[in-house]
Amino acid sequence: MKATPKHIAIIMDGNGRWAQNRMLPRVAGHHRGVEALRAIVQYCVDHQIPILTLFAFSSENWKRPVAEVKLLMSLLQKLLQDEVHQLHSNNVRLRVIGALEGLAPVLQEAIISAQQLTENNSGLQLNIALNYGGRWDIVQATKAICKLVLKQELKIEEINEATLAQHVMLHDLPEPDLLIRSSGEQRISNFLLWQLAYTELYFTNTLWPDFGVVDLESALQFYATRERRYGLVSQESEQAQHV
Ligand code: IPE
Ligand code: IPE
Ligand code: MG
Repeated sequence: MKATPKHIAIIMDGNGRWAQNRMLPRVAGHHRGVEALRAIVQYCVDHQIPILTLFAFSSENWKRPVAEVKLLMSLLQKLLQDEVHQLHSNNVRLRVIGALEGLAPVLQEAIISAQQLTENNSGLQLNIALNYGGRWDIVQATKAICKLVLKQELKIEEINEATLAQHVMLHDLPEPDLLIRSSGEQRISNFLLWQLAYTELYFTNTLWPDFGVVDLESALQFYATRERRYGLVSQESEQAQHV
């Protein structure tokens, strides 16, 4: 049987270039990016992919022009409000990760109500990283651990990798098996730094608004060919040693 990832993470990149290539404003690319997103979520629902984590807005994206940030925020809010019922009827469970206190109150409210509505669903676990940064995530985990130490619920000597792993975002879910980044960039851009330690990385030149089911299937085919070794020796070479 071909290996399929239980958890796919995606850096949806290239909206701006998609628009610029067509002499359109960058925001037109973000609008088209939402359409691409819809199709990918539906594919994961239809194919019983258990977990999908999407990078929607990074801690660093605030440095973009004010008008673009505003548009992105209103697009995200509209998306949460308009799509949540469709997601709910698809049995999708939604979670938003990131520094939510840094978002506008109306957006925070939309997030809370979307999460509440879908919290008992048992289908696709859809995580959206919003105002998220991998370094922020490690810092917030560190702060939570420090609080436990101060309350004398934990000793410094007891802190280990498992302690960190229990305090980063998505700690209750298996780590991503496959990371996809569109648009030709081959970097992590401060996405899930801790959680991606052993994730298979797939890069495609396709710009996000053009990313469709065919591209996702190529990524899944790539994943099926990978041998995940986690620092051990290859199963093939181990078998060869025993003959
Ligand atoms: C990704 O597309 C969307 C977000 C970061 C919100 P970009 O807007 O980064 O598109 P490019 O990389 O400039 O083409
Ligand atoms: C990463 O893309 C963030 C999201 C897709 C939300 P960026 O376009 O912001 O990353 P850089 O600037 O190319 O590293
Ligand atoms: Mg980009």
